[in-house]
Amino acid sequence: MKDLIDQLRAKHKLTPEGYRALLTMRDSQDVEYLMEQAREVAQAQFGKGIFVRGLIELTNVCRNDCLYCGIRRSNSNVSRYTLTREQVLDCCEQGFEIGFRTFVLQGGEWGEERSTWIAELIRDIRQRWPECAITLSLGEHTRETYAMWREAGADRYLLRHETHNKRLYSLLHPEGMTIQHRLQCLDCLKELGFQVGAGIMVGSPFQSLNSIVEDIMYLVDFKPHMIGIGPFIPQHDTPFSRFPAGSVDMTARLYAILRLALPQALIPSTTAMATLSPDGRLRGILAGANVVMPNLSPADNRAKYALYDNKASFGAESAQGINKLADELSLIGYHIDWSRGDFPNT
Ligand code: 5AD
Repeated sequence: MKDLIDQLRAKHKLTPEGYRALLTMRDSQDVEYLMEQAREVAQAQFGKGIFVRGLIELTNVCRNDCLYCGIRRSNSNVSRYTLTREQVLDCCEQGFEIGFRTFVLQGGEWGEERSTWIAELIRDIRQRWPECAITLSLGEHTRETYAMWREAGADRYLLRHETHNKRLYSLLHPEGMTIQHRLQCLDCLKELGFQVGAGIMVGSPFQSLNSIVEDIMYLVDFKPHMIGIGPFIPQHDTPFSRFPAGSVDMTARLYAILRLALPQALIPSTTAMATLSPDGRLRGILAGANVVMPNLSPADNRAKYALYDNKASFGAESAQGINKLADELSLIGYHIDWSRGDFPNT
């Protein structure tokens, strides 16, 4: 097993069988060796600094109906909101004062007719905080919309591919959504000069080990700048409410494998990790993750952005709880890196 891990570290890729072996290995010493190697690689790239991003949940209005997601269109128990321009700018101002230099605007997917409103918002943020990075996470859109947002000043775009497997993709999403279109969007974002993030949920209903191997192969080939991966967590108003949550261990193992495959990638230890386990966030970092995305949304709105049950959004998971996060990180010898944290050489 150690040879395989060394090979991944040296060559940055393995055969599908190799990935499968790393995903299924049981010996705890082998697993610890994988984690150690991933930490070493992350530290060689980024030191013991962890980048932070202020997450602003712009809206829970969504035209999509993904079967796993709490803010899916057909969930009538959600009280829908959209932040005003002023609210978003207030969030940024608060975030900037705390020290954030990246703002992430995340939200449900809107129709193209509202893309210009978002472009204006991006322009406002760009003008007021020229030194900050603006990341968008707003779903699938036309090339025209993506280009408009890029021109308005957005730097990065997060769009998890969710799963590369065609059959699984169609089991997780409503009719009409396809993995082909998802991948086209990711290609387009890259062409437009965004730093791009892809990724998956771990342990989603019907997911197999083979499909995870397929996801690793896709990510290694696509080489995203950012990789967003978190365990699936059921939401009580969705068709997947009765499925079990994914595993923190398996998610951490994926962070480690992808850290060795893509040493420069920006990999957050995600909110879903922190939600499932009190030490989930730290375990992600000890597996080679190097980003945390505290919640910067207005406190009253946070409960309404419930992608899954019990989603962490306060304490160390909130921008206001940043000292708590810093304390947690220091327990394992890490600290917050307050710089913009772009992908190396971009
Ligand atoms: N559990 C875990 N992650 C989820 N997401 C959406 N719903 C869930 C859920 N029930 C993730 C998706 C999406 C990101 C914003 O949140 O991967 O891309």
